[in-house]
Amino acid sequence: MAEVRLEHVWKIYDNGVEAVKDATFTVEDKEFVVLLGPSGCGKTTTLRMIAGLEEITKGTIYIDGKVVNDVEPKDRDIAMVFQNYALYPHMTVYENMAFGLRLRKFPKAEIDKRVKEAARILGIENLLDRKPRQLSGGQRQRVAVGRAIVRNPKVFLFDEPLSNLDAKLRVQMRAELKKLHHRLEATIVYVTHDQVEAMTMANKIVVIKDGVIQQIGDPHTIYNKPANKFVAGFIGSPPMNFINAKIIRGEGGLWVQTSGFKVKVPKEYEDALADYIDKDVTFGIRPENIYDKMFAYAPTPENTITGMVDVVEPLGSETILHVKVGDDLITAKVDPKTKAQEGQNIDLVLDMERMHVFDPETEKAVI
Ligand SMILES: Nc1ncnc2c1ncn2[C@@H]1O[C@H](COP(=O)(O)OP(=O)(O)O)[C@@H](O)[C@H]1O
Ligand SMILES: [Mg+2]
Repeated sequence: MAEVRLEHVWKIYDNGVEAVKDATFTVEDKEFVVLLGPSGCGKTTTLRMIAGLEEITKGTIYIDGKVVNDVEPKDRDIAMVFQNYALYPHMTVYENMAFGLRLRKFPKAEIDKRVKEAARILGIENLLDRKPRQLSGGQRQRVAVGRAIVRNPKVFLFDEPLSNLDAKLRVQMRAELKKLHHRLEATIVYVTHDQVEAMTMANKIVVIKDGVIQQIGDPHTIYNKPANKFVAGFIGSPPMNFINAKIIRGEGGLWVQTSGFKVKVPKEYEDALADYIDKDVTFGIRPENIYDKMFAYAPTPENTITGMVDVVEPLGSETILHVKVGDDLITAKVDPKTKAQEGQNIDLVLDMERMHVFDPETEKAVI
C-alpha cells in the first residue's frame, strides 16, 4: 500500500515566489500520476515537497494516511529519479546502484541480490562494471532508475527523466517505464512538460499552470473534456484552434458565427449554450477534427467552411494545412492524399460533435 495525498499545500519561497498554490490531489496506490505543465509552473517544487527535500509553507502531505510534513526525506520511503540523473562519476554502475543500500547498512548479500535483480529488469546486467561516462544517455537513464528500484520504495518520484534523451530513445524509454510500472506495481509521481509523455503513460494527469492545478483527470477526459482554454491548448499537437465567435439563433437552431464562417451547433449542445446566445465566445476545434471535404465522412452545408490554403505541411502519415478563413488562420490535420495547394481555396468539414466553447472572460469550458 502506498498512497500520497496533498491537501491545500502551498510553497512560498523566501523571495516571495508562490511556486505552488493550494494544491490538493491524491495519488492512489499503484497509480501512475503525471504532473504536467509548462516550465516554471511548480512541478519540481511539488515533487521535492513530497520527497521532503523542500519544506512546505502551508498544508498537509500524507503518505499512507500519515502526515509526513515533519518526516525526514530518508524516513519517507520514497525514491526520486532526477532530471540530470545525478550519478556518481567515479563509481561503477554496480556501485552507483548499491550506494544507497550501503548507506542504509543493508547486508552485502541482500545488496548484491537487489542490484542484480534491478539490472536484469532494466537490461543493464552487462554494464555493471562500467563508469557513467562510458554509458550512453539511455543507459545512464536506466542506471538512475535502477538506483531507485533497488530501494524498493513505497513511491517513485520522477522529475522529467526523459528530457535529456533524443526523440527516438524517449519513445522507447516511455514504453519501458510504462512496462516497469506494471511490473513493479509501483506508485509513481512523474513530472513532465511533455503532453505526449503525460497522455501515453499516466493513469491520471494533474495539469498545472502558474502553481495552480487546472484539471485532474484521466488522459481521455483531459483530451476530450478540457476544463478550460489552457488545458485545451496544452494537450494535443498541433494545438486546438481557438476562434473568436458569436453564438446566434438561426435556421433550425443555434449556430457558431465567426468572421469567416457559420456552422451549426449539434442539438445536444444547445442547452449548455442557452446563456451565450448573441454573446461573444471562443470557439475551439482540434486540427484532427477538421477534414478535407474530399475525404470527409459526412459533409453538409451546415458543417462545411471554405478558406484559402496558406501553407501545406506534408508529414507522410498526415498533412497539416494552415487555412485562412475570414480573419482567422485555422490549422487542420487532413488525409495525406489531399490535393490542397497553397494559394487555392479548399472546403473543410468540421466534426461539430467534437466542438468546444469557452467563456471569453473566465476561459472556462462551456462545452
Ligand atoms: N529555491 C528557489 N527559490 C526561489 N524560487 C524558486 C526556487 N526554486 C524554484 N523557484 C521558482 O518557483 C517556480 C516553480 O519552479 P519549479 O518548481 O522548478 O517549476 P517547474 O519544475 O515546473 O519548471 C519558478 O518560478 C521558479 O523560478
Ligand atoms: Mg522542474
